[in-house]
Amino acid sequence: MKIFKDCTEDQITQAAQALIDGHLVAFPTETVYGLGADASNATAVSRVYKVKGRPKDHPLIVHISSVNQFTHWASEIPDYAFELATRFWPGPMTLILPRSPLAKDFITGSQNNVGLRVPANPIALSLLSRFEEFGGLGVAAPSANRFGAVSPTSAGDVDEEIGEYLDENDVVIDGEGCQIGIESTIIDCTQIQPQILRPGFITKTVIEDSIKTEVSLKTSTIKHSGSLKNHYSPRAKVSINKTPSPGEGFIALSHFSTPENVVRLISPETNNQFASQLYFALRKGDHLGLKHICVYLPDNSNLGTAIVDRVSKAASYD
Ligand code: TXA
Ligand code: MG
Repeated sequence: MKIFKDCTEDQITQAAQALIDGHLVAFPTETVYGLGADASNATAVSRVYKVKGRPKDHPLIVHISSVNQFTHWASEIPDYAFELATRFWPGPMTLILPRSPLAKDFITGSQNNVGLRVPANPIALSLLSRFEEFGGLGVAAPSANRFGAVSPTSAGDVDEEIGEYLDENDVVIDGEGCQIGIESTIIDCTQIQPQILRPGFITKTVIEDSIKTEVSLKTSTIKHSGSLKNHYSPRAKVSINKTPSPGEGFIALSHFSTPENVVRLISPETNNQFASQLYFALRKGDHLGLKHICVYLPDNSNLGTAIVDRVSKAASYD
């Protein structure tokens, strides 16, 4: 694979061309790294599934450069979805909408809905804009990790996860990004009222304040791999709210002290820091060869809800 480190105009152009030519391009977003493919190209998209080792019926999010591309991919868009898009895009939010004929079964996992997102990262946005200038309509991009593993927040993580499955024409863009550190908030906009399917940086309260409508937080019957247990998992076993024993890893807000001979992986001062460092910390535990990582959860409110969600899934072994 090619690694682009400088993110020059020329490299963005080459990466956009690689997508048009049916190759894969991993790129940073403000949440996690995505593994991109032309969302209109069935062969390219099938490689995404292969590289990730992801089951075919798990739908992919289509990334677009602006709200103007919205109507290509979705139909019957409720007013509240337009309000959300206008308010939070570009940003860490994915909207699930009834699909247009453009959103084929190989993108939606044969469901009648499609997931759409306009990411806020400047590299992601210029890649998407260039791709659209070249005639592309959207980039399907799941997180660039093997299925069930921890999402990557650096180009090094991407290489570690999927480098061996990429070929010489695929591209990894090594750029600044992933300040948020956990995946986008997913909102189901196929019903009269919006429902959060995956909590994220844009919280229930913020959404409710902005559209003046009550929003439920729900595990939907719509399939989304974020709803599976045993997801976001490192190799180490993850335990929640258990005091770590000597030799074990420990993740907690900074006001918790570290028991003796325990490996403190991170000490975030805020939930924003907690979210942005969480996946780095889980990976670091694996790099250190730890067998066990204990996590003290933050309060299950606001951004804490998304952190609790990801850690609970990492700790679930059903
Ligand atoms: O922050 C993010 O959303 C990152 C970056 C790269 O944009 N992407 C990401 O993609 O997290 P992925 O595929 O790892 O997780 C997307 C989730 C999956 O659980 C998928 O099943 C769900 O979104 N999803 C996608 N399309 C859907 C649809 N049409 N209906 C319901 N769920 C959908
Ligand atoms: Mg993922």
